Amino acid sequence: MLTPLLAEQPQASRGERYAEVRQRIDGLLDGEDDPIAALATVACELHQAFDYFHWTGFYRRRGDAELLVVGPYQGGHGCLRIPFSRGVCGAAARTATSQRVDDVEAFAGHIACSSTTRSELVVPVITPAGKVIAVLDVDSDLPAAFTPTDQHHLEAVCAELGRRFTAF
Ligand code: SME
Repeated sequence: MLTPLLAEQPQASRGERYAEVRQRIDGLLDGEDDPIAALATVACELHQAFDYFHWTGFYRRRGDAELLVVGPYQGGHGCLRIPFSRGVCGAAARTATSQRVDDVEAFAGHIACSSTTRSELVVPVITPAGKVIAVLDVDSDLPAAFTPTDQHHLEAVCAELGRRFTAF
């Protein structure tokens, strides 16, 4: 059952809001070649655009190790390091596939950085050569907060990052 908050946000308005925030991100990142500045700006813009995001940020892969390191992000503190073998973030990095989890309690191996997280969506950032260089993790206090609309737009944002940067 949807909460009133989500019920008041029909898919069209969610899509429209993504169109606005993606346009803003494109403008802010125009000509920016610093990867951390880019990731920080994306995390900030997404976090402020959607009230059902309570943690929004990146885990970066440094080099070739199968390990993710937190940051930049918005929200409460996140686990600092996540191996590819663990959690929703690890699954997204390992499989190079987005993980949309309606109920984190039902996801074996979910890492509970915050006890209030109920659902999450993790999207890998992949280079044209096929290497996963980061994941974007968005978490919500609401169950099943993320829809295919969120996944579609966040995948587009991450695809652009993967085209522009080869490492973080
Ligand atoms: N829930 C994530 C861990 C990261 S934090 O929630 C910020 C996971 O299971 O991968």
